[in-house]
Amino acid sequence: MLLDFIMTPIHGDKVVEEIRKFNKDLYILLLTGHKDLAPPLETIRKLSIQGYCEKSDKFDQLLLLIESAIKSIEQMRIIGEINKELTKSREELEKAYLETIQTLRYTVEAKDKYTRGHSDRVSAFSVLIGKYMGLSPEDLKILEIGGLFHDIGKIGVPDSILLKEGSLTDDEYSEIKNHPSIGKHILSNATTFENIIPIVYHHHEKFDGNGYPGKIAGKEIPLFARIAAVADTFDAMTTKRSYRNALPLDVVREEIVRVSGTQFDPEIATVFLDILDNHYDEILAIQEKYSS
Ligand SMILES: [Fe+2]
Repeated sequence: MLLDFIMTPIHGDKVVEEIRKFNKDLYILLLTGHKDLAPPLETIRKLSIQGYCEKSDKFDQLLLLIESAIKSIEQMRIIGEINKELTKSREELEKAYLETIQTLRYTVEAKDKYTRGHSDRVSAFSVLIGKYMGLSPEDLKILEIGGLFHDIGKIGVPDSILLKEGSLTDDEYSEIKNHPSIGKHILSNATTFENIIPIVYHHHEKFDGNGYPGKIAGKEIPLFARIAAVADTFDAMTTKRSYRNALPLDVVREEIVRVSGTQFDPEIATVFLDILDNHYDEILAIQEKYSS
């Protein structure tokens, strides 16, 4: 749009002000009769006026300004198209990611129904701990997805062992202990899941180095795996197993205190004990939502 600054009954800047209320993108060039009559620079900036030009007998300057305006409009149109395409691709990618997650979940659940409620709770407890540790939303997302699939490797463990009711032989126990490595292998081909592999691979490590499969200790164990380990063990203790009932809360609490520093990172155990003592309603809400 090309418009004069000095006009009656209202000046050009007022016209632009009205236009900007409903159209922020319109390309506007303002013409002034004389330099001294030009609107102040801050008005031009505030109203997003793309250019102004003094009227003269020669039209060269105005012509150049209009040509550059046409180029800018064309470039803005192209950028707009590219942005639209990018948004579409991002949405499609996000959709494919969520579909992949859902497919993986169905695969795991088909194998072991117990896993479903357990994985949902480990995921939610991990996020809860992360929240009280002040982690970022991106980190909480990794904890959420990592919790959902921490035991994905169990699909590679024979049912005869996984579902066995009696006690396990040493060989059978070794087979079960393979699940973190199997899980890591399953996810290793998808870059989408690379940030949850540390959780899948290391959630059975212990703070004193007596866990598996890496036998790594302390802060060598990835933070998210140390968090998932607390969430995983807490859920195992608070749910009924074939060989025992769910443990009472005071026993669970004592056990967490006892293994703090050996099995659990003491800092994370402290955060979790604080949640148990002061935010127990949030634990209950998770248990009710994902009861198996
Ligand atoms: Fe596990």
